[in-house]
Amino acid sequence: MASRVFSGVQPSGVVTLGNYLGALRQFVALQDQADCLYCLVDLHALTVPQDPAALTAQTRQLAAVFLAVGLDPARATLFVQSHVPAHTQLAWIMESLVHFGELERMTQFKDKAAGKAVVSASLFTYPALMAADILLYRTDLVPVGEDQKQHLELTRDLAQRFNSRFGETFTVPEPLIPKLGGRIMALDDPTRKMSKSSANPYSYIALSDDPDLIAAKIRRAVTDSGREILYDPEHKPALSNLLTIYALLAEEPVEEVAARFRARGAGYGVFKQELTDVVVAALDPVRRRYLDILEGAELDRVLAAGAARARSLAEPMLARVYERVGLVPPVAG
Ligand code: TYM
Repeated sequence: MASRVFSGVQPSGVVTLGNYLGALRQFVALQDQADCLYCLVDLHALTVPQDPAALTAQTRQLAAVFLAVGLDPARATLFVQSHVPAHTQLAWIMESLVHFGELERMTQFKDKAAGKAVVSASLFTYPALMAADILLYRTDLVPVGEDQKQHLELTRDLAQRFNSRFGETFTVPEPLIPKLGGRIMALDDPTRKMSKSSANPYSYIALSDDPDLIAAKIRRAVTDSGREILYDPEHKPALSNLLTIYALLAEEPVEEVAARFRARGAGYGVFKQELTDVVVAALDPVRRRYLDILEGAELDRVLAAGAARARSLAEPMLARVYERVGLVPPVAG
């Protein structure tokens, strides 16, 4: 039997190069190797305030990005989380299983809540919904960036806890985190991860950025002292982040990229120019496809078919879970 892959992306803004290299690229590579489900997690986006019209638009845009990067609805199931009510239904069971202290330890919650006067309860219970997403589908493998590792560990703990309390029910999933690219850093600060929620748009490259904007962002990207092109994340974190982006998009080992520039005696300026060429060559076709797809009617059909398949998998699992925990099944008539 083909193994099952599940992952999710929030439609909470633009899709960044970090999302692409950390997650979406793996999604595409896996669609030929396993039964893949990729979810637009709109309910997760609601854990922080969203403008309703913007959320609707961003969900469609994210679906268009999924197709534009090469996900094929004939090979992978693409769907919107809120179209499959079993996600929130299982999330309640997960909230009843997870401990308050476990949620308190989540670093993503601490980061997102820091400095906020008001924090929603759902931002706190977010990992319970994420565990439900994954566990509904007997998921074996979850391709994600490094920032999701702790949530995945909690999901594994919850699956094991449920199984030992109520009997073997859930598959315990494994995370799949790329060694290189699992954490792409911000262009303006190599100590922070590249994030779509950054206030400074020059800190990230979006898949929707046009070539001029990409060039401007790379020109402005901070670099480290010295001029030698070296892959050394500890001493040259900014340059090493740019080298990582180059290496992944050009599909070349990162040390070799650095050595090639050193051999030519090239400095940061030349490197940045060539990095721009590599990023534009990789992203411009994606952006063009994205714009075409956004115009067409295919998106709605893809998401409707995806939701129908996801529901057919999720509903029997939810029924089994309800039964295991002792909820009385509804009687027809
Ligand atoms: P989200 O929407 O923040 O990000 C989507 C994916 O992109 C990865 N990512 C990065 N990878 C490398 N470098 C970066 N700078 C970078 N920024 C983001 C994320 O790790 C993620 O894989 N909680 C999840 C969504 C989610 C989910 C799930 C994921 C909900 N349910 C079930 C997997 C399985 C999130 O907020 O991702």
